[in-house]
Amino acid sequence: MAARAPEPQVLLCLGALLARWVAAGLEAVVIGEVHENMTLPCGNISETRGLVTWYRNDSEPIFLLSSNSSRPPAKPRFSLVNASSLHIEALSLQDEGNYTCWEALNVTRWFQVWLQVASGPYQVEVNISTTGVLPNGTLYTTRGSRVDFSCASSSRPPPMIEWWFQAPDSKAEPFGNNLTASCFTLLLMSQNLQGNYTCLAKNLLSGRQRSVTSELLVYAPPLSDLECWAEMSPRLFLLQLTCRWDGGYPDPNFLWTEEPGGVVVGTSKLGVEMLNRSQLSDGKKFKCVGSHIAGPESGASCVVQIRSPSLLSEPMKTCFVGGNVTLTCLVSGAYPSAKILWLRNLTQPEVVVQPSSHYVISQKGQSSTLTIQNCSQDLDEGYYVCRAENPVGVREVATWLSVKEPLNIVGIVGTIVSLLLLGLAIVSGLLLYYSPVFCWKLGNTIRGQDMGDVMVLVDEEEEAEEEENAAEEEEEEEEEEEEEEANEREAFPKEMHKHGHIHRVTALVNGNIDWMANGLPPLQDESSEQQSDLVHEEDRPV
Ligand SMILES: *[C@@H]1O[C@H](CO)[C@@H](O)[C@H](O)[C@H]1NC(C)=O
Ligand SMILES: *[C@@H]1O[C@H](CO)[C@@H](O)[C@H](O)[C@H]1NC(C)=O
Ligand SMILES: *[C@@H]1O[C@H](CO)[C@@H](O)[C@H](O)[C@H]1NC(C)=O
Ligand SMILES: *[C@@H]1O[C@H](CO)[C@@H](O)[C@H](O)[C@H]1NC(C)=O
Ligand SMILES: *[C@@H]1O[C@H](CO)[C@@H](O)[C@H](O)[C@H]1NC(C)=O
Ligand SMILES: *[C@@H]1O[C@H](CO)[C@@H](O)[C@H](O)[C@H]1NC(C)=O
Ligand SMILES: *[C@@H]1O[C@H](CO)[C@@H](O)[C@H](O)[C@H]1NC(C)=O
Ligand SMILES: *[C@@H]1O[C@H](CO)[C@@H](O)[C@H](O)[C@H]1NC(C)=O
Ligand SMILES: *[C@@H]1O[C@H](CO)[C@@H](O)[C@H](O)[C@H]1NC(C)=O
Ligand SMILES: *[C@@H]1O[C@H](CO)[C@@H](O)[C@H](O)[C@H]1NC(C)=O
Ligand SMILES: *[C@@H]1O[C@H](CO)[C@@H](O)[C@H](O)[C@H]1NC(C)=O
Ligand SMILES: *[C@@H]1O[C@H](CO)[C@@H](O)[C@H](O)[C@H]1NC(C)=O
Repeated sequence: MAARAPEPQVLLCLGALLARWVAAGLEAVVIGEVHENMTLPCGNISETRGLVTWYRNDSEPIFLLSSNSSRPPAKPRFSLVNASSLHIEALSLQDEGNYTCWEALNVTRWFQVWLQVASGPYQVEVNISTTGVLPNGTLYTTRGSRVDFSCASSSRPPPMIEWWFQAPDSKAEPFGNNLTASCFTLLLMSQNLQGNYTCLAKNLLSGRQRSVTSELLVYAPPLSDLECWAEMSPRLFLLQLTCRWDGGYPDPNFLWTEEPGGVVVGTSKLGVEMLNRSQLSDGKKFKCVGSHIAGPESGASCVVQIRSPSLLSEPMKTCFVGGNVTLTCLVSGAYPSAKILWLRNLTQPEVVVQPSSHYVISQKGQSSTLTIQNCSQDLDEGYYVCRAENPVGVREVATWLSVKEPLNIVGIVGTIVSLLLLGLAIVSGLLLYYSPVFCWKLGNTIRGQDMGDVMVLVDEEEEAEEEENAAEEEEEEEEEEEEEEANEREAFPKEMHKHGHIHRVTALVNGNIDWMANGLPPLQDESSEQQSDLVHEEDRPV
């Protein structure tokens, strides 16, 4: 109690001194933050000090602390550091104000310190109106939409609030600033507005700042339609299912399932699945469902159906020695497209025919032709197999190629035709000579009874032409057989075809025995088909 007695006297002169000191403009400003400890220096002199007393210059000066240890501090929060500086523990906003330190030496000196107390900002509230939030907290919106941004924070003194935008791989750019709150709206969001949006709240007094960064992605639904297809993978025999849905951001997700049943084949961002043969069967369907975060809720889907190939080919072909012949193989129904190979069945059962000057192979779409140039009986006669293969299945069909001598046939046919014409002319001449009426009657009789002979002649002419044109007509008959063949694709139709062919040959042979001299089968009638087959077998080069 005794310690406080002299205070009024001291304070009286203090007031006058303070006024002079302030006029000198020697005040210092110290900035502290709430809850922190603060030390206010008494001037800047570091020499040995005299008695130091601290006052707060409120409405009237209030004693705080003195270096005279017999005078206790006004509050325990106050203490003296280095015998001159005022240390304040745990600052509060109420501590803000002007403080005066009085140093009593030979000459009394006064210093004033203006303590400013800042607070915050401790929180920044950001609100971005978007379409949604990803699991990792990233925001996303859709292209073309409108987004409202707002940011608020509080501090003492009020903070400066700034928005910054940083696109990937570029510098941050300011979007403007304001005090206490900042809002703006972006219309028609586009890809170049995707990036990190940062709201920064800064206490200009303390320099304390807080920021909140929000990553905002601008998603776009795919522009194209969902497409899917199957193809043979470069590594053979694997089926590659591919699904595409382009133009969207980010990439869509794809789900491949078996249909029906919905057994999952795989899910991926790529949309590509590989299947081995054991997972495949003819007619099986696979469905791809594409889903996109910004796309339609139900996604999009498409279905592929895989099919093993079907084959059409001529069962039999003829080539003249030294001539050319083209074998055609038509693949249909194969999905994915089949790989077409020609195989030769001569000495070895299956040798792949390699393109050369002798063998010309050309493929147009799913039809392949094998042209054999300069046919030779020894080398080229025999079976040619067309094989079509895709991951779903393999089909083979064989064509028998017979190679014949062209000149003899033409000569023989010519002889037959001239002999028959001569015979006919002689008969007609004789008839006309005896009686034209008789001739008419006899003519009727001839037509009725011996029609077969005339028909044989016609057949022979056709056959002759046909042989010269490399057996074009044969193909017509073969077409019927190929329909049956389509039902049982793996069965080789050569047996059936032989019969058809032999029919014609028989007709020819009936007309001229010379055929036998050319090594053709000695066929007697149409009923001896069994025998003709055997002969054919012997005909093959081995
Ligand atoms: C310290 O304070 C006491 C009590 O107020 C006083 O008697 C004493 O003179 C002071 N000492 C000095 C050096 O001022
Ligand atoms: C302030 O000082 C007191 C005692 O000197 C100490 O316990 C406390 O941790 C300090 N606080 C800060 C924020 O430095
Ligand atoms: C102390 O303050 C005075 C007045 O502001 C100044 O002239 C002087 O240079 C300061 N001294 C030191 C050591 O800072
Ligand atoms: C100290 O307080 C008095 C009384 O309120 C005032 O007149 C004076 O200007 C203050 N001095 C300073 C330096 O603020
Ligand atoms: C006290 O004095 C020492 C030595 O001169 C100095 O290093 C230290 O910073 C001073 N402390 C304060 C709070 O001024
Ligand atoms: C402290 O004094 C300055 C003038 O030196 C004055 O502008 C300021 O308002 C004062 N601070 C308080 C809290 O009174
Ligand atoms: C007082 O001042 C005089 C001259 O300025 C000096 O010689 C003396 O040492 C000082 N005394 C103290 C106690 O500082
Ligand atoms: C959050 O997830 C999205 C989508 O997966 C990704 O693009 C983004 O980079 C992620 N952000 C962070 C910060 O991890
Ligand atoms: C700052 O924000 C206030 C309140 O949101 C607004 O009224 C004012 O126009 C804004 N100023 C600037 C420069 O943006
Ligand atoms: C946002 O910032 C994070 C962290 O720096 C970074 O990983 C991410 O790529 C940025 N996002 C964009 C879209 O720039
Ligand atoms: C067979 O084809 C080749 C090449 O096209 C041609 O030069 C040659 O004249 C043809 N031979 C016959 C007999 O048509
Ligand atoms: C290939 O030849 C072998 C024996 O020469 C025969 O058993 C097989 O049926 C032939 N294959 C075809 C497709 O003709």
